[in-house]
Amino acid sequence: MAEIKNIGLYTSGGDAPGMNAAIRAVVRAALYYDIQVTGIRRGYEGMIKGDFWPMGRKSVSNIVQRGGTILKTARSEQFRTPEGRKIAYENLQKQGIDALVGIGGDGTFTGARVFGHEYDIPIVGLPGTIDNDLAGTDFTIGYDTAINTVVDAVDKIRDTAESHDRLFIIEVMGRDSGLIALRTGIAAGAEAILIPENKTGLSGLFDRLEHGRKDKSSRIVITAEGDDVGGAFELGRLVTEKFPHYDTRVSILGHIQRGGKPTCQDRVLASRVGVAAVEALRDGRRNEMIGVIHNEISYTPFEKAIKQKIDINEKFLKIVEMLSL
Ligand code: F6P
Repeated sequence: MAEIKNIGLYTSGGDAPGMNAAIRAVVRAALYYDIQVTGIRRGYEGMIKGDFWPMGRKSVSNIVQRGGTILKTARSEQFRTPEGRKIAYENLQKQGIDALVGIGGDGTFTGARVFGHEYDIPIVGLPGTIDNDLAGTDFTIGYDTAINTVVDAVDKIRDTAESHDRLFIIEVMGRDSGLIALRTGIAAGAEAILIPENKTGLSGLFDRLEHGRKDKSSRIVITAEGDDVGGAFELGRLVTEKFPHYDTRVSILGHIQRGGKPTCQDRVLASRVGVAAVEALRDGRRNEMIGVIHNEISYTPFEKAIKQKIDINEKFLKIVEMLSL
């Protein structure tokens, strides 16, 4: 096992609050172990274009509290091709980069998995996505901040809902996953939630509006953007058609969910897995995502971390129903 001397560090895919805290942790932990870090801007795009940044202690000063990613991020089409990956590998070699840490989600680890099989370079990944849709960690970096942003926004919308006796349909992020909707639905006291993992959301909502308590002054419905109904506007249309007596409004929270200061929980998670990433590379680990399960550091092969169906806790759905009586 060759000694690691220079780690290439990148963020890729959608940004997530806490990515900067993870960058800081990787850089500082590497320096602690006398390993150099080279930042790669815009993920795989930067690898191909040769956008490298030798990082030191000060490169990561004053970023633990900042949202976004100082390394910037992108989704790279060229890296999907063998030719693109060859250019990337040659650029890494020219820089003397002998290991990689990638921070991101599904797409990031799909690229890392292919690259790590094609070329002899150890890669480990850190789960950075607001969606929380990776297997091998209880939570992803950014999820806690995003759900707190959502709850804060829904609380504000509720003021208007309550003042005007309205029904609000609020769309939250999650193209393939309802995990943001699931937790925020409970925390914000939603009437119902609609998520891609559950096929009875619409009928459940209709049933609730038809047979539920009639004397409520306001109602909050949360839908994940990836739900089968097709988003908040379509859901609003269906609800208005069937229940024209409700004063229904739609609100799409959008990218507000991806920004802002990371919560304490996200900063701690990012710092823990950042340190663990450097230690994992030193221990000869590769092709794995590093997460935290039951408060312990865990290692999951990339192919298992991505595109696994994450089981929804059915009890959460039941709780929404029970508590919105
Ligand atoms: O994966 C994170 C995420 O925010 C999803 O929840 C959302 O569907 C998607 O990214 C939006 O991507 P973009 O910012 O490229 O529109």
